Amino acid sequence: MLDYHNEWLLPAEHRFPLPETTTGRIWLEIGCGNGHFLAAMLRLHPEISWVALEYKRKRVLKTLEKLKKLGEPAVTLIYGDFFTLAPKKLPPQAFERILLNFPDPWPKKRHAKKRLVGPSTLPWLYDLLLPGGMLCVATDAPDFAAQILDLLEADPRFVNLHPPYRRERPEFPGTLYLERWQRERRELHFFDYRKETLPLPK
Ligand SMILES: C[S@@+](CC[C@H](N)C(=O)[O-])C[C@H]1O[C@@H](n2cnc3c(N)ncnc32)[C@H](O)[C@@H]1O
Repeated sequence: MLDYHNEWLLPAEHRFPLPETTTGRIWLEIGCGNGHFLAAMLRLHPEISWVALEYKRKRVLKTLEKLKKLGEPAVTLIYGDFFTLAPKKLPPQAFERILLNFPDPWPKKRHAKKRLVGPSTLPWLYDLLLPGGMLCVATDAPDFAAQILDLLEADPRFVNLHPPYRRERPEFPGTLYLERWQRERRELHFFDYRKETLPLPK
């Protein structure tokens, strides 16, 4: 069932409900844009349920239009900011995969703390994933790709499945930005990291 939530109307302590799932497989897309990729994935993989979030209102509404055309997809769509949602409002250890497709790279140093993959967000991304879950990130920005590598290669709780990264991701449909960057012949970087559950110290 499609479930649409506006973060700003909810009490601060509210935690978003997860979509219905018959398979137990829930994926999270952060920054779903106009919902292009999400709609294509729902057609290809109806067995997967989704939480999708986006903080630009017009894009949320475009996603909503696309999802309504699909009938009753198992999606919780949230109009909100990952930085406020992740620490308190998204359920921990709930997601089989987290996808970040071309998150804004915020190339200026003073903006680096806004990057969706960075030292402040990595603990949240780790907590949201199920053990063995995957963090999949795509970017066209070489500096951001270098930062992702630095950060994740130094963290033993994540294992890189395609070191250092892939240049394409044939198993998934395109995204609007993927198509744009391919037309411009930009070099793309696709990362797939698996969350490892480390044994507790003796
Ligand atoms: C470059 S666009 C990519 C859109 C889409 N994923 C694609 O590949 O076509 C990045 C998207 O992430 C959203 N976004 C950026 N930071 C966000 C945040 N902190 N919380 C939620 N959405 C965010 C932006 O509004 C934008 O729609």
